[in-house]
Amino acid sequence: MGASPKDIYSVDYGAHPYFRIAGRPIFLQQVTANALDTIEAEQSGTAEGDKGDAGSEVQVEHTERTSLVVWDCSLVLAKYLEYQRQAIPLHAKRVLELGSGQGIVGIAAALLGAQVTLTDVAFAIPALTSVVRLNNLSPVPGSRLAPSDTAGCVTHVRPLDWLHRDDFIHSLESPFDYILASDVVWVDWLIEPLVATIADILQQSHILDADVHTVAYLCHQTRSTRGDERLFKQLELHGLTYQTVDFNSMEPTFRKPGLINIFRVTRAIADKSP
Ligand SMILES: C[S@@+](CC[C@H](N)C(=O)[O-])C[C@H]1O[C@@H](n2cnc3c(N)ncnc32)[C@H](O)[C@@H]1O
Repeated sequence: MGASPKDIYSVDYGAHPYFRIAGRPIFLQQVTANALDTIEAEQSGTAEGDKGDAGSEVQVEHTERTSLVVWDCSLVLAKYLEYQRQAIPLHAKRVLELGSGQGIVGIAAALLGAQVTLTDVAFAIPALTSVVRLNNLSPVPGSRLAPSDTAGCVTHVRPLDWLHRDDFIHSLESPFDYILASDVVWVDWLIEPLVATIADILQQSHILDADVHTVAYLCHQTRSTRGDERLFKQLELHGLTYQTVDFNSMEPTFRKPGLINIFRVTRAIADKSP
C-alpha cells in the first residue's frame, strides 16, 4: 500500500527507502503504471502553456489528473520547510495547501507540527483523504479544532477549485498563517485564477484577524519564460509582492538551481513575519 517518491526524484535517500520529514516517512497511494503513462502523455501536450481554449473540458481533465503524481517541487518545498524549521516555525500554525495533489507538502507541514488543511479539485479528494489516513494524521475524534489541540494533524481535506473559488473560499477555516503550494504554475490559463485565489485567501485571513499576516510559499518549476512572466504580472496585478528564496537556504540535496524556485508571497504591505 505504501509508496515512496524515490523513483520520481533522482536523489539518493541513503539508507532510507522513503522520503522522510522530521524523521518520519511519508506514505503515498500506489498509482498504477497505466495512470502514470497517461499523465505523462497528457503533460507533454500541455506543459508549454496555452494550446487551446482556456478551461475546455479536455484541459480540465488533464490538469486534474496531475494530482496523481508527486512532482519534484513538492519534495523541494517539503524539505525547505524542514530545513528552515527554526526560521519558519510551523508548530500550531494554521496551514492551507493549494493544489495538494498527493499532499506531500501539507503532510510535511503537519509532521513539522502545523494544523493543516489540504485542498485540490474534487477529483483529487478521495486519494488525498486516503493519504491522510495512511499517514495517521487525522485528529483524535472529538478533539477541539484549536490549532494548539490539533497541531501535527490534517484537520480538513477540502475541494477548492481556483476556477470557481467563490464557491469554496467561504467554507475554509480561515484565517491561515501560511499558504503552501508546489508546482501549481504549469499551464498559462490557470495562472490568473490561482493568483486570484491566493490573493483572496490572504485578504480574507487579514480581514478576519488584522494581526495575521499570512505568508504564501510557492514552489515553482520554470517551464517557459512566458509562464514565469505571466505569474509575476498576475502577482503584481493582485497587489501581491514576492521574494525569491535564496538557494543556499534550501536543503542542499533537494534543490535544483535555475529550474525550481521558491517564492515568498505576501500582500504588498509592510510585513515582517517569517
Ligand atoms: C502539477 S500538479 C502538483 C501537485 C502537487 N502540488 C505536487 O507538487 O506534487 C498540479 C495540481 O493542481 C491541481 N489543480 C489543477 N487544476 C486546479 C484547479 N482549477 N483548482 C485547484 N487545483 C487544481 C491538480 O489537481 C494537481 O494536484
